[in-house]
Amino acid sequence: MNIRFEKNIAPKEKPQDNVLGFGKYFTDHMFLMNYDPENGWHDARIVPFQNISLHPASTVLHYGSEIFEGLKAYRRADGGIQLFRPIENIRRMNNSAERLCLPQIPEEDALEALTTFVRTEAEWTPHSEGTSLYLRPFMFGNDESLGVHTVHHVTFAIIASPVGSYYAEGINPVRIMIEDEDVRAVRGGTGYAKCGGNYAASNRAGERAAQKGYSQVLWLDGVERKYIEEVGAMNVMFLIGDEVVTPKLTGSILPGITRKSCIEILKKEGYKVSERLLSVEELSNAMKNGTLKEAWGCGTAAVVSPIGELLYKDHKYIVNEGKIGKLTQHLYDTLTGIQWGKIADPYGWIYKL
Ligand code: PLP
Ligand code: COI
Repeated sequence: MNIRFEKNIAPKEKPQDNVLGFGKYFTDHMFLMNYDPENGWHDARIVPFQNISLHPASTVLHYGSEIFEGLKAYRRADGGIQLFRPIENIRRMNNSAERLCLPQIPEEDALEALTTFVRTEAEWTPHSEGTSLYLRPFMFGNDESLGVHTVHHVTFAIIASPVGSYYAEGINPVRIMIEDEDVRAVRGGTGYAKCGGNYAASNRAGERAAQKGYSQVLWLDGVERKYIEEVGAMNVMFLIGDEVVTPKLTGSILPGITRKSCIEILKKEGYKVSERLLSVEELSNAMKNGTLKEAWGCGTAAVVSPIGELLYKDHKYIVNEGKIGKLTQHLYDTLTGIQWGKIADPYGWIYKL
């Protein structure tokens, strides 16, 4: 792939690592590429970070034709930079594209776009413990017409943001509200795809949770409102007795790459892991009778986040005395150890730049 480069001649001052938070600062460049049926994907370019101009009838503004991905570039102690399982993100992006009738990108081109872009912005990868360069590839339809149909003109972009922790709590336990009114996704819908609409529709419940002092909501299935699905920006796992339980991928849950990695780590280490249906009733019984030992969420932005409290129908359940559990901590240390190159990667997950 030929990638044109236009250098930003007015680079920004980089923020200090201790003020990063999540997604507030952006690097000096962005990757762009266009698609139309005549030319396929074309005009790959890395250009100064800038606003994107759109026709007011552009499809994405009316009908939400948009998908995105999230992955991170990590700074190793030796100064080098590495990605974590980037090919998994590329495959998921193409699955999301298929669901939204957007054009797929050949895996090797998507990887080249990503790695060339990260090399260009390498200096923006922060050095402090727990920080990284968050990469946000995204794709949207921009036909200039109001008819509802498969889009023909599409833009693919990658932007990057130096980040610290996603939650203000950092690695401290978060408080989560189990949502029993709104639903995030239904089978046959777009739950397994990473599309913007899923997130737009989840904001109302998120707002209600925030008003009650909770960080995010835990969604139940959209049919019976009975089975645990996932949290707004992460998958969930529970240590019940000696079994790690995580909701199985029924089509309405995002197949998280962190989820998949946690399962692989836990299984390799001999833990019993079940991907199965977990009803909210089973979970609340486990909370009442003390067999729920630990709960955590996992995601690229959230990493491994202990859950210290769950609210369900105005009943508060404190998990593990509101403290981070032993297994949660172990999983966090193992996963982040591999991601930042502090421990060996026996899985072949690391992609060094
Ligand atoms: N579930 C949702 C709804 C998400 O937005 C995310 C974040 O990407 C995840 C789960 C975790 O996925 P991953 O581990 O691939 O980041
Ligand atoms: C990620 O973890 O990469 C996500 O996409 C979560 C997000 C919606 C902030």
